[in-house]
Amino acid sequence: MKNAWSFCIFLGLSFFLGTSILAQVPTESWRPAIHFSPKKNWTNDPNGLLFYKGEYHLFFQHNPKGNEWGNMSWGHAKSKDLMHWTELPVAIPNDSAYIFSGCVVWDKSHVSGLGDAKKDLLIAIYTADFPNTRQEQHLAYSNDDGLTWTKYAQNPIININMKDFRDPNIIWHEASQQFIMSVVKPHEFAIQLYGSKDLIHWEILSQFARQGDYGMIWECPSLVELPIEGSKETKWVLFVSSQGSYPGNVGMQYFVGTFDGKQFVNENPKEQVMYVDHGKDFYAAIPFYNGMNSDVFWLGWALNWSYAGDQPTFPWKGQMSTARSLCLVRTQAGLRLKQVFKPDFVSRKPDLTLTNIQVNSSWAFPIPALLENKSYVLELDLGASPSGDFEISLLGEGSVDKFVMGVSAKSTKIWLDRSQSGKMLGAGFGNRMEANWLPDRSRKIQILVDHSIVEILAADGTVAMSALRFPNANAEKLAISSIAGSIKIHTMKVWKLK
Ligand code: FRU
Repeated sequence: MKNAWSFCIFLGLSFFLGTSILAQVPTESWRPAIHFSPKKNWTNDPNGLLFYKGEYHLFFQHNPKGNEWGNMSWGHAKSKDLMHWTELPVAIPNDSAYIFSGCVVWDKSHVSGLGDAKKDLLIAIYTADFPNTRQEQHLAYSNDDGLTWTKYAQNPIININMKDFRDPNIIWHEASQQFIMSVVKPHEFAIQLYGSKDLIHWEILSQFARQGDYGMIWECPSLVELPIEGSKETKWVLFVSSQGSYPGNVGMQYFVGTFDGKQFVNENPKEQVMYVDHGKDFYAAIPFYNGMNSDVFWLGWALNWSYAGDQPTFPWKGQMSTARSLCLVRTQAGLRLKQVFKPDFVSRKPDLTLTNIQVNSSWAFPIPALLENKSYVLELDLGASPSGDFEISLLGEGSVDKFVMGVSAKSTKIWLDRSQSGKMLGAGFGNRMEANWLPDRSRKIQILVDHSIVEILAADGTVAMSALRFPNANAEKLAISSIAGSIKIHTMKVWKLK
């Protein structure tokens, strides 16, 4: 009996040790090459995005101690080209409060009066989260280009005694000569706007609430002025992370309108819903502060809260999307958001151009070696005359993994099916995603593949779809198959990203 028990304990222990050791195997083949992911441990939202002295700074929600959400602090990375990222020491560690999402402002004129007036001054404004009690807006400042931060002695700078009140994002508003903060009351689906001259004292200006989609809590708002392509005009756009196009999965939406220094007014009916990305892995994006020459660009967290904890990677979990420039375009349906990959990978000479590809039933990409490092942009131009429906598939060895992007050129629809693409995560991960594009847009599709991340920009950048995948196989090939009859692809171009 005694021996039987020892044997059981031994078995149990070996199983436990075996699985925990197995779970620790690094999964570098899933690590994106040009997207930021922390060397180790957890990340969610990008924070404090800033273009400063020729470098892009990315702060991020980070658990410095583990591969799951917790100990929320600000991690820090920077890049000269938005492709190669250098991770720096943790910038703002948690203390009695978790350091939740927020932004960084370059206080060029030292209006805050904080720190050393002879040195450049960065101001971080973020939410201090006292778990289950209160969320307040706090300030920290840095005189060493964001490496180390001093928490402001008189924090909080805004406290309305609410349990959920978070994610401040700030812009400089030239016309009213003040800083404008958007900050959200998640459960009231309300974005509040505050104004300040010195970044310390804030006065409430207005509130925007319950418009568009409020099926899920609102988080991470931002307000920006975007150029309208092909004109000298601009419009104001209010972004919020909330529910996306798939009930139960988070996403982002936007509102287009005017802003007079006090109030944002949506120019569309309040029921109208416009989503930013029709994939499931783009959330909490905020614009970079101090973009040059009205170049507004952002990046988001490439993951979804519904299954984030299941991401099967080690020693990190969570990653950022590529950066994307933002503007508005006039379409037959009204003003729509247009996103363009930044850097503009496709403006350099392609590594391969193929023309007039005829696909009778199936077609295999002819130079697989070009795609073997799994980091490339593929652009398909379907030409002016609509062709039939087809599928572009990324196929693992022996076709064990299948990531499918379907295109219906006639009905101008694009869909994604990752239900057979390797490891499945929970909560709707395997369900099909779909987006329609407006018939007055070009039939060009850009597909950016970077290991576990696929980002699609189609129809002149008015359709975005971002989706993760975790294939079992290392090698893969690209194939196109027509769904009924034959199809023709006018031009295909490929750019390697490494
Ligand atoms: C959004 C969010 C924010 C919050 C942060 C906490 O993903 O929930 O609202 O500040 O993440 O990590």
